[in-house]
Amino acid sequence: MSTPFHPARWSRRELLGGLSALYFTPGLFAEELYRTPRQTEGPFYPDHLPLDQDNDLIVVKDSTTPAVGCITHVTGRILTASGQPVRNAVVEIWQCDAGGAYLHTGSKRHADFDKNFQGFGRFETGSTGEYRFRTIRPVAYDNRTPHIHFAIDQGGKRMLTTQLYTKGEPLNAVDGVLKKVTDPKDRAALIHEYKPVPDSKIGELAVSFDIVIGMTPEDIKGDRFRGERQSG
Ligand SMILES: [Fe+2]
Repeated sequence: MSTPFHPARWSRRELLGGLSALYFTPGLFAEELYRTPRQTEGPFYPDHLPLDQDNDLIVVKDSTTPAVGCITHVTGRILTASGQPVRNAVVEIWQCDAGGAYLHTGSKRHADFDKNFQGFGRFETGSTGEYRFRTIRPVAYDNRTPHIHFAIDQGGKRMLTTQLYTKGEPLNAVDGVLKKVTDPKDRAALIHEYKPVPDSKIGELAVSFDIVIGMTPEDIKGDRFRGERQSG
């Protein structure tokens, strides 16, 4: 190809050659993955983080008494929009206990919080971008449909705050936060099915939730909860 990079002056053969080279460039025309929609952080991100912050929310430290609730395995991958696994992403989850109480001291039923439930967990991804938690199936509280809160940090910056909803929950239709999610693709990205773990003797469930994040820290404008906490 003697002609400098002026496609206009390329021969038909050069042009086709050039285009096919572009076409076969890995990832160039790869379909972007659908970004996981942001959801409010809400007011119950723990104001006092638990001593035990691992990815097993069923057992607090070395207690032998498990949390009350249906044991559930929450797994997934943290991905970029081009499908690349995100390494060293810190995934945090928090949710209410089986009675609807959060670890946060402002939670209405905090006094009854299940001491055997960790309420909050953290996991740092490796080269595959995978994360995993053992927790309880989320339950409804007040007028909220069952959900698990997620925060994804990278390099100390919050990349995404979102929530995982449960497929088939009747409250999904009237939930004050979820009903603002009107785009079917957004809803499909946030609402997932909890399936029985095959051969589980204790009725465990499993749910898979891949999270697609953008390249820049999230914009927290408009989320008064996040803003408040940011401003301490
Ligand atoms: Fe919540």
